[in-house]
Amino acid sequence: MQGKVKRGLSCDGPLCAFGPGDVARVRQGGKLVDEMQDAESLKLELIGAVENASTVDALEELRVSALGRKGRITEMMKGLGALDPDQRREAGQALNRLKDEVATAIDTAKTSMGDAELEARLLQERVDVTLPPRPESRGSIHPITQTIDELTAIFCEMGFTVAEGPHIESDFYNFTALNIPPEHPARQEQDTFYLPPDESGTPRVLRTHTSPVQIRTMQTTTPPIRIIVPGRTFRSDHDATHSPMFHQVEGLVIDKATHMGHLKGCLIDFCRAFFGVDDLPVRFRPSYFPFTEPSAEVDIGCTRAGGEFRIGKGDDWLEILGSGMVHPKVLENCGIDPNEYQGFAFGMGIERIAMLKYGIPDLRPFYDTDIRWLRHYGFVPLDVPTIAGGINR
Ligand code: PHE
Repeated sequence: MQGKVKRGLSCDGPLCAFGPGDVARVRQGGKLVDEMQDAESLKLELIGAVENASTVDALEELRVSALGRKGRITEMMKGLGALDPDQRREAGQALNRLKDEVATAIDTAKTSMGDAELEARLLQERVDVTLPPRPESRGSIHPITQTIDELTAIFCEMGFTVAEGPHIESDFYNFTALNIPPEHPARQEQDTFYLPPDESGTPRVLRTHTSPVQIRTMQTTTPPIRIIVPGRTFRSDHDATHSPMFHQVEGLVIDKATHMGHLKGCLIDFCRAFFGVDDLPVRFRPSYFPFTEPSAEVDIGCTRAGGEFRIGKGDDWLEILGSGMVHPKVLENCGIDPNEYQGFAFGMGIERIAMLKYGIPDLRPFYDTDIRWLRHYGFVPLDVPTIAGGINR
C-alpha cells in the first residue's frame, strides 16, 4: 500500500489526484484511509489502462466500466454513505477529483486518438491532384453535350440562366397554355406521343417541344425573366432527318420594355458566336407559331459553291430556329399582365445546329452509341467551352 501512495505522490501534472496534504488527511481514520487508498490504486490502474488503450472503442469501454452507471468509481461513490459525515465529505471530494481526472484523461486520449485516426486515413486515401490525366482514357464528350455546353456558355454570358422541366407533360402545358387549343391543327403537326391520363384524368403527353417550360417558368417567376431550357423532346417521327427523341433549346425573355429589336440582336449575336463567323448573315423570315405574335423563322447564310458546304456569307440560306414575341394570351395564361410586360421566345433543334457546325452528315448515329463515331465526332472532356477559353475549336 505504502508503495502505491508514494507512486501517487510522485505523480504530477493534471492526472494527479492526491497531493501531500491528502496523505496527511487520510491518516485520520482507518475506514477513510482504506477508502482513499482504494481510490488511489484505482486511479493508477485506470490511468494506466487509458494510456494502453489503442482504439476509441476501447476508451469508451473503459469509460463505461469506470464512470458508467455500474462503473467502479460510481460504485465507490455509493459506498460513501457508510462513512461519518466529516470523512464522507473528504472522501467524496477525493472521489470527485478522481472521477474528473479519469474523465479528462479519457477525453484527451479520445481526441488525440481521433485526430491520429483521421490523420492516418487522410494519408492512406491521399489523391495526387497534380498527376496528369491517364493517357489511356479514351472517353469523349458527345456532340449533343458539347453543343449544349457551348450554347449555355454563350447565353449565360448574356445573362440567361438555365431552367428545366419534365419530359412527361400535361396536355395543358404542352398545348393549351401555349395558345394551342384542342382541335388546333398545330396539334396534328407535332406527331405527339400520347400517354394514358394520370389519376386525376389529366391527359398526358411526351413533350413535343421545350416551350411548356416557358409556361412553368412564367407561372412561378415574377419578371424580369431570362432563361434558356436545353432538353429532350419527343415526336412520333423517324427517318434520316427525324428521330423520335431529339433535343431543343428554348429561350424566354420577359421584361417591361423588351421588343423585337432585342429578339433580333440576341439571336444575331448568338448565331455569330456559336458558328464562330463574325459577319455571318442572319435573316428573319415572317412565320407563324400559335404562342408568338409576330413570329419569325431565322435563317443563316451559307454557300455550296464548288460542291463544298460552308456556313457564312454566300448565296444560300439555312433555317435554324423559330422565334417571336410572346403572345399576349400566353402571358395572360400565366398570370402576367400583357399591358405591363412583354417579351420574346425562341426554340431551336440542338442536333441540327450541331450537325451544321461540326459537319455531321447523318442524324441517326447520334443515338447509336457506336464507339468509332464517338471517337471521331466526340470532344476532349477537359476542353470545356467558355467565352474566355473559346467556344469554337
Ligand atoms: N416550340 C417551337 C417548335 O418546336 C419553336 C419556338 C419556340 C418558336 C419559341 C417560337 C418561340 O417548333
